[in-house]
Amino acid sequence: MRRLFLSITLCASLLCANAQRTDYRVVPLPQRIEYVKGEPFVMSRNTVITYDAQNDKMKRNALFLAEYVAKAAKLNLAVADKSRKEGGEIRLVIDPEIPSAEGYRISVGKKLIIVAGKTSAGVFYGIQTIRKSLPVQSSGEQVVMPAVKISDSPRFGYRGMMLDCSRHFFPVEFVKRYIDLIALHNMNVFHWHLSDDQGWRIEIKSHPQLAQISSKRSGTVIGHNSMVDDSTAHGGIYTQNEVREIVEYARERNITVIPEIDMPGHMLAVLAAYPELGCTGGPYEVGHKWGVYTDVLCLGNEKIYPFLQDIIDELIELFPAKYIHIGGDETPTQKWTKCSRCTKLAREQGINVEDLQSYFTNRIEQYVNSKGKSIIGWDEILGGNLNPSATIMSWRGTEPGEKAALAGHDVIMSPVSHAYFDFYQTKETGSEPKAIGGFLPVQKVYEFNPVSETFSESAKKHILGVQANLWTEYIPYTTQAEYMVLPRMAALCEVQWTAPEMKNFDDFNKRALRLSNLYDCYGYQYARHLWKEKQISTSGVW
Ligand code: ACM
Ligand code: ZN
Repeated sequence: MRRLFLSITLCASLLCANAQRTDYRVVPLPQRIEYVKGEPFVMSRNTVITYDAQNDKMKRNALFLAEYVAKAAKLNLAVADKSRKEGGEIRLVIDPEIPSAEGYRISVGKKLIIVAGKTSAGVFYGIQTIRKSLPVQSSGEQVVMPAVKISDSPRFGYRGMMLDCSRHFFPVEFVKRYIDLIALHNMNVFHWHLSDDQGWRIEIKSHPQLAQISSKRSGTVIGHNSMVDDSTAHGGIYTQNEVREIVEYARERNITVIPEIDMPGHMLAVLAAYPELGCTGGPYEVGHKWGVYTDVLCLGNEKIYPFLQDIIDELIELFPAKYIHIGGDETPTQKWTKCSRCTKLAREQGINVEDLQSYFTNRIEQYVNSKGKSIIGWDEILGGNLNPSATIMSWRGTEPGEKAALAGHDVIMSPVSHAYFDFYQTKETGSEPKAIGGFLPVQKVYEFNPVSETFSESAKKHILGVQANLWTEYIPYTTQAEYMVLPRMAALCEVQWTAPEMKNFDDFNKRALRLSNLYDCYGYQYARHLWKEKQISTSGVW
């Protein structure tokens, strides 16, 4: 009997000898990983994932974990509200004792893994850590999970990625795939850039011409404003049902969708449909070129305000987010200075016509606030007597954000220097897909410090977090969009999540290489400059 027992144990450990092991040092690096005494957990086909049956969000978490394990490790685990004895249990629980709202703890023991979060969102991040710690395998071998205690929580509450769907329209399926990437990197905000000079992208029922006219352009300039037009129609609109579907898809993954309607500049596509809203009355055409157009909304025209309020009303119905992003960047004032309505408004307000934007921003903010929501704007909105309740997205460096934080505004750091993923990732631009320009290697993203050392504690508290942006003037393809954000999103997520004193680029580099196996598993395109062993020819991919 004893001999039989011995040979079974030997057999089991031999099986384990062939099995691959988890590596808990994932991206983003958890704040604390403590290996503990004890035998490892062996994940096998008999392992069951359990959750609190009363809680729908925990059921969704359990299904996510099962899906992730099946995809990476090729093990199909059962999801149940009770455990089975033989294969071990991964138990998902809520633990109100965990201090941070998005924090989680994982403990791995011989027969039981507990993933605990203060909220279901915390549990979701614990699940992301387990998912990324698994080996990517081609058949469902057992996985050995060393005994450990992990406790983790994010550095910042706002961890965002933007996607510009105006310059190029991306299908719903890709928007979901992008949201999957946001989740994989423990981020919680999808900033959706839905309007610009070159295309309007969201159905607004009260103003149907936005879908009929503003969402289509008859051609696109080739290259960097070469003056040669491709004369090929480009367009696309997200219906309100599709928007709801995307918001729900994101919500299930603990991601808030913040819509951006850029105003009062970057509005040429709107003017093409509603020319009476511009200073000259048009005619206007949806933009074909890149850059900044001087035709903007006529702020002296009272009609623009109810028009924008109608749009805001529909956004509020569709997006549960606390914030509406009102853009506000790059608004030339030339047309206002020559417009009798705008100059009259400036005189009445006792301000220079060049300062009309802050009058406009305050008026829009008051409306948004009256609906119980708040605005975010690019840092140009900082002029004038802006209400401190407006949140600033600092893109022209970190200095505007620092100034805003000191003035009492909440701030999201998204500087062109470290967070513009439309820039080249290498100086060898000849072998890259065409980009807008610039140079932003992974390491520079990684080294971004969003909080000035000189800040007072109160100013520090105003830095809500960090976001990177994917502007898509030069990105017509979904594969190219993936290539531009990966692996820079991996570097960004350690800026957003991991304590600065734990960051080390060489160590990150190795961990990101393992993460790239998961990118392969899902068929994502990604830049490989960091890793010789991953380099392939990308010619012909774009
Ligand atoms: C911006 O890049 N114009 C916000
Ligand atoms: Zn005007």
